[in-house]
This record gives sequence, C-alpha cells and structure tokens, in this order.
Amino acid sequence: MILLVKSKRKIIVVGNWKMNVLPSQTENLAKDIANLCCTPKCEIVICPPYVCIHDAVRTVKDSGIKVGAQNCHWDEAGAFTGEISAEMLADIGVNYVIIGHSERRQYFGETDKTVNMRVKYALSKDINVIMCVGETLEQRKSGREKEVISEQIFKGLKDISSENIDKLIIAYEPIWAIGTGETATPSQANDMCKFIRSCVSKYYGHEIASSMTIQYGGSVKKSNISDIISQSDIDGVLVGGASLNANDFAFIVSEASKIAF
Ligand code: PGA
Repeated sequence: MILLVKSKRKIIVVGNWKMNVLPSQTENLAKDIANLCCTPKCEIVICPPYVCIHDAVRTVKDSGIKVGAQNCHWDEAGAFTGEISAEMLADIGVNYVIIGHSERRQYFGETDKTVNMRVKYALSKDINVIMCVGETLEQRKSGREKEVISEQIFKGLKDISSENIDKLIIAYEPIWAIGTGETATPSQANDMCKFIRSCVSKYYGHEIASSMTIQYGGSVKKSNISDIISQSDIDGVLVGGASLNANDFAFIVSEASKIAF
C-alpha cells in the first residue's frame, strides 16, 4: 500500500555539497558519481557551489543526473552585488535550486519572507525548487515543531499559485540533525513529512499534496538510508556530508532506487 501511494511521486536524491569541493576537483567527483549511479530509477541532483556548476553540468551532461544550485536571488538582474539570478542558473543548465536551507536562515539572515520571494521567482522561471523547512532542538524540546514548520510553509508558499506548485519539493530538515551525526528517527521524520503533506493539502488540496515529493535531510548516510526511504511519506533525501563521497552517495541512490518505479 505504501509503495502504491509512493509510486505516484518522484523519488529524488539530492547531494548538497555546501561550501566544499574546488572547481578543479569537481569533474572527478561528478564523474565518479555519474559512473557509479549509471542506472538509477530515481532522480539524482548534485548541488555544487556556484563556481563548480559549469564543470558539473558539463561532466554529467549525458548521464541523466541533474545539477542544482544552493540558492538564488528573487530578481532577474540589477544592482545586487554578490548575487546570482535564476536566469543565470538556467542559462548554464541548472534545473534545481535549494532555497531556505537552515544554514542560510541561521548565518545569512534568510527569513520566511525572502524564502518566499526566491521560491516564487525561481518557480516562475521554471526551475525546480527544493524549499527547506526545519525546527531547532529548542523548538522541538518545547513541543513547537509542528507550529514552526506550518508557519515556515505558510509564509514560504504565500501567493504561489497551484499552477507553479508541481515544480516544488519540500525538504524537512530538522536543524538539530544537520551535520551533527544525529538523525531524526525514521518515524519522527515520517511523522513530520506527513504533517507537511497535510499543510500542503490545506492550501492546495489533497491531489496536489498527495503527489508532492517531500524529502528528509539531516545526517542521511549508508547506515540509515534504507530505514528512512522506506517510510510512507518520505520520497527522497537531501544529503550533505555523505554526498561528498561518491561511493556513499551511490549507495544512497541505489537504496532510493529500490522504491522508485
Ligand atoms: P548533512 O546535511 O547530511 O551533512 O547532515 C544535510 C543538509 O544540510 O542538507
């Protein structure tokens, strides 16, 4: 039954390289990943730093692997020193963008309002968006995790019409599980992904919610991927640390492929 419902949704494994890997190392890592993930049934996306994107796109060109960015601005062009637009990304072959990652919220002043502006603009330019939401340990300890997540979703998706929503993926990334080695238990993660689906259903209806891909992220690795990906409402994973090792990433992809149709 779980597999039947999940079969309607895209299963996706995304590697978030964060601020790692030099441009001169990109081809090797991307090539290893492409060689090891040669018959995937799930969607695979690698998200290198901006300066590595060009090499990554060139290297994985014929492999079926997609390339994403880790952020993008909410305007087309102009006086925004240091920023990168959705148009620029699309122009060099980027298909996906991660928006609202907790590290951007925590260190770079990202707010639900700026997340909303970025998501809205990238979707309007036909880029697939992975919008991240997640609570802190303190919020979870005080039992506020659902309240926090529903607010992030409500504000992040404000004024985004249902026509553009098919390019949206939501990633549940509890902040206390990112880069800490601490993973949410599969049932904790599933419970939150299910809750996210119920929030989406409230705003966009059951049909859209039941076909939306919702991922989990936070210390995903070889040892926990199979328990995570077999959950009813988890349709993929956003992988940080383990995505920098081609063998580990390929193992995660192969486990995810087992539940993809
Ligand atoms: P991690 O990072 O897998 O290293 O915990 C996940 C993420 O931040 O996307």
